[in-house]
Amino acid sequence: VLGMSLPMGGHLTHGWGVSATGTWFRGVQYGVRRDTGRIDLDEVRDLALAERPKVIFCGGTAVPRTIDFAGFAGIAREVGAVLVADVAHIAGLIAGGAHPSPAPYADVVSTTTHKTLRGPRGAMLLSRAEHARAIDRAVFPGLQGGPHNQTTAAIAVALKEAARPEFSAYAHRVVANARSLGEELASRGFDLVSGGTDNHLLLIDLTSRGVPGKIAAKALDRAGIVVNHNTVPYDPRKPFDPSGIRIGTPALTSRGVPASEMATVAEWISRVVEAARTDDEATVEKVRTEVKALMDGYPAPGLPVG
Ligand SMILES: Cc1ncc(COP(=O)(O)O)c(C=O)c1O
Repeated sequence: VLGMSLPMGGHLTHGWGVSATGTWFRGVQYGVRRDTGRIDLDEVRDLALAERPKVIFCGGTAVPRTIDFAGFAGIAREVGAVLVADVAHIAGLIAGGAHPSPAPYADVVSTTTHKTLRGPRGAMLLSRAEHARAIDRAVFPGLQGGPHNQTTAAIAVALKEAARPEFSAYAHRVVANARSLGEELASRGFDLVSGGTDNHLLLIDLTSRGVPGKIAAKALDRAGIVVNHNTVPYDPRKPFDPSGIRIGTPALTSRGVPASEMATVAEWISRVVEAARTDDEATVEKVRTEVKALMDGYPAPGLPVG
C-alpha cells in the first residue's frame, strides 16, 4: 500500500509501520516537498512505478491544501492500483462544495463522520460496485460484529443537514475563516506549512517562535483556544514533542464567528505563543478573559452562554 507518511501529514492507517495497515501490508510512503510543503505527484508516480502498490491512499490528517484526486487517479490507473480517497477531514467541505469531490476519480472513498461533516463519531465507506461485496464482507464478518444502529441514525441526520444550502454556506465560511486566519497569522510572522491553506486547517511550524508545539498548545488551551500539537514536515523533533500546532476553523465557524474576527484570533494566538515562550502566565490569563468575552457573543449551538 502506498500512502502519505504520518509525519508529513498523512494518517497512520495508510500503511504507517505501527498501524495494522503497516504490519499486515507492506507500506510505502510519500511525503511533501521540502521547498513547497506540498505533495509532489511526480514523487508519488515514481514510487508507484517502482513499488507497484495494490492500493494507493490519498488524503491525510494535516494536509492544508486541495487534494488532486484526478492526479492520483491517473497514477493509480497507470500502475493498476485501487485508489482510496480518505476524505475524513474534508468530507463536510466536499458535501458543501467547498472542496472538489473524489467521487469521479476514486475507486473507494473513506471518511469519518465527525470532523467537517459535523456528525457523530463514526465512519462511512463508499465504493464502486465492483468493490462493494469485498468491502462489505471485510467489514462484516471480517472485522466488525454488531451494527451501531444509533450511530447510523445519527449519520443519517448529519447527512440530511449536510445536504442543505445552509451547510454549503457553512462549508464555504469554514474555508474563508481558515484563509483569513492564515493570512493574519502569516502577517504576524508565523510560518505556515505550504504558506497557507485551501481548506479548514492550518499547520504551523513554531520553530522560528522558539517554542515547541506541545508547550504552545497547552498554553493556548489554558487561554481557551483549542489546537493540537502536531509534527510538521521534516520535523527535527520527536512525534510526541513536535515543532508544530494544527488549527481548524470548523468549530469557530459553527458558533458564527465571521472572518472579520480572525485578526483578533490571530493576535490572541500570537500573544499566547509568546507568553508560552517567556513563561508569562498573566498574559495567558488575560487572553482567556478576552476569549470568553468575545465568545459569549457567539454561543455554541444548543448550549447555554457562559
Ligand atoms: C485522514 C484520517 N483518516 C481516518 C481517520 C480516522 O481514524 P480513526 O477513526 O481510526 O481514529 C482520521 C482521524 O480520525 C483521519 O484524520
